[in-house]
Amino acid sequence: MPLVSMRQLLDEAAKGGYGVGAFNVNNMEQIQAIVGAAIETNSPAIIQASRGARSYAEDRYLYHLILAANELHPEVMIAMHQDHGNSFETCKSAIELGFTSVMMDGSLKTDGKTPNTFEENVEITRRTVEYAHDRGVTVEGEIGVLGGVEDGHGAGGTGLEHLTDPDQAVEFAERTGVDALAIAIGTSHGAYKFSKKPDGSVLKMDLLIAIHKQLPHTHLVMHGSSSVPKELQDIVNKYGGHLKETWGVPVEEIQLGIKNGVRKINVDTDSRLAITGAIRKVFAETPDKFDPRDYLKPAREAMQKLVAERMREFGQAGHGADYKPLSIEAMKEGYASGALDTRPSLATK
Ligand code: G3H
Ligand code: 13P
Ligand code: ZN
Repeated sequence: MPLVSMRQLLDEAAKGGYGVGAFNVNNMEQIQAIVGAAIETNSPAIIQASRGARSYAEDRYLYHLILAANELHPEVMIAMHQDHGNSFETCKSAIELGFTSVMMDGSLKTDGKTPNTFEENVEITRRTVEYAHDRGVTVEGEIGVLGGVEDGHGAGGTGLEHLTDPDQAVEFAERTGVDALAIAIGTSHGAYKFSKKPDGSVLKMDLLIAIHKQLPHTHLVMHGSSSVPKELQDIVNKYGGHLKETWGVPVEEIQLGIKNGVRKINVDTDSRLAITGAIRKVFAETPDKFDPRDYLKPAREAMQKLVAERMREFGQAGHGADYKPLSIEAMKEGYASGALDTRPSLATK
């Protein structure tokens, strides 16, 4: 089966009441880890590449590696997603390459750190939706801005400066027709999200619930959702790393989000920690080794373990084959006929 639409994976997740992890990749081992975890847990898979990943790997390599995964494991439903597209052109080039889903992050200007105005965000997202839907491709937008700048996508600060306004979220969904909506509830990218276990003063789950009440049929997306587990921090530090004590988003908060409309959960940092810990361990314990396979294999296994755990925790495990995949051509027809129109004013159920 060819690559599938992310919209279909999220629609099915909404019907089943579960979430789908979206895991970032930059190389072959990370793609294999995600697909391996999807096979292990019988899950659908969202594989996403940032602009940095596309540039690091030369995106055609990533595309063909994902196609290879698809050819070897046709039973796994894979959506290929552009993470944090910063312009219409970035999204267009991803679609031309064969991505089945794009994020137009119009919450920020093309520099990835200066907040856009609401009108600018609506305009660029609406234009991307028009282009993408004509080609059967899914679009995720973002309203409100994440904090931090660790990974080059965020307005700095604590994450509380540009929280999503629920009324604006409704207007944004109505005027853009996005398939999925990322919201800002206090998270940020990278390892240093919170200086202690987050409570409601810094991680605004109440706001998420309020947005879901106003937009019950919109698929919500949580960015910056790595949990930064202490065990992974400890492994990195035990073998020579220097991570400062830090907290991520607890899995139980993500699960609360999933009960309240969250369908896509973005995870990158946890994979990075798992990989780095495994590589450091090999280097520290067997300094005589120099074959990359000796450390990349454990790194791949560590990431697969992490991804499989998240797939189970998000509830997508077991849902890999319980519905028939639609072609991108069928999605294109669905958008053209209006059957896939997401505008809140049209929502019936
Ligand atoms: O959005 C942040 C992701 O972790 C991707 O990070 O831009 O360093 O590839 P990156
Ligand atoms: P983390 O840095 O928390 O893994 O977030 C990843 C992300 O949001 C990618 O878009
Ligand atoms: Zn993100």
